[in-house]
Amino acid sequence: MLNFEDPAIRIENLTKTFGEHTVLNRLNFDIPKGKIVTILGFSGAGKSTLLKHILGLMQPSSGSISVLGNDLSTLDNVELREFRRNFGMLFQYAALFDSLTALENVAFPLKEFTKLSKGEIEAKCHSLLESVGIKEIAHNKLPSELSGGMRKRVGLARALALEPQIMLYDEPTTGLDPITTHMVNDLIASTSQKNKDRQMTSIIISHDVRASLRISDFVAFLDRGNIVEYLPASEFAESTNELVQEFVNL
Ligand SMILES: Nc1ncnc2c1ncn2[C@@H]1O[C@H](COP(=O)(O)OP(=O)(O)O)[C@@H](O)[C@H]1O
Ligand SMILES: [Mg+2]
Repeated sequence: MLNFEDPAIRIENLTKTFGEHTVLNRLNFDIPKGKIVTILGFSGAGKSTLLKHILGLMQPSSGSISVLGNDLSTLDNVELREFRRNFGMLFQYAALFDSLTALENVAFPLKEFTKLSKGEIEAKCHSLLESVGIKEIAHNKLPSELSGGMRKRVGLARALALEPQIMLYDEPTTGLDPITTHMVNDLIASTSQKNKDRQMTSIIISHDVRASLRISDFVAFLDRGNIVEYLPASEFAESTNELVQEFVNL
């Protein structure tokens, strides 16, 4: 298992049970700063449950989770809400506000959580949208006037607005066509690259082995509540774990 010095996230002996059902079982997992880490696993393996623990949305049955040096068990609800601002999230559906333009969508968290002036917000939104490849001409369009791929880009710009330390991608390409999938994967990689100097960490939950190996630094495989493999992406396909081989060769 890989360990890192000063990791973005350190999980030790995390166990989560629902009644009789043990979903996470003494799981240990370090996620390094500034890298892209993909978590692969069959449906029902516990991936979403793991993410909810990292966000402090679920309490462990036992074990500990530390994120950016914060032991989550020591934070109260107000502190947890503040803590979650360290995260940017992009989900399967970009979940944009339909009645707001691209620019207004990106402006939303900035209006809500910063004291920036109207002009500063507008300038920042333009630059965020440009950085994810949305041209000026589309900044005032509604989500319904944008393609699926463009909506993903806007969703990403909005997720990046508050300069999160950790970007979470839960199944970012599920349900997209192959070309858009490729585009979104490239976008995740280039976004990580652009935010490397401030050590932004990217965590991807995915089924897409090929893309994971292409864009990630490290790949973990979660099975029945445990990280059963965790390797540099370049070595992952050589894993001797049978389930990993099965997954890689699907
Ligand atoms: N709130 C909950 N109550 C009871 N069981 C749950 C709850 N959340 C998840 N589970 C169970 O945990 C297992 C893992 O679920 P999940 O983390 O969503 O898997 P994945 O995201 O890998 O598909 C499933 O068997 C699911 O039914
Ligand atoms: Mg899930």
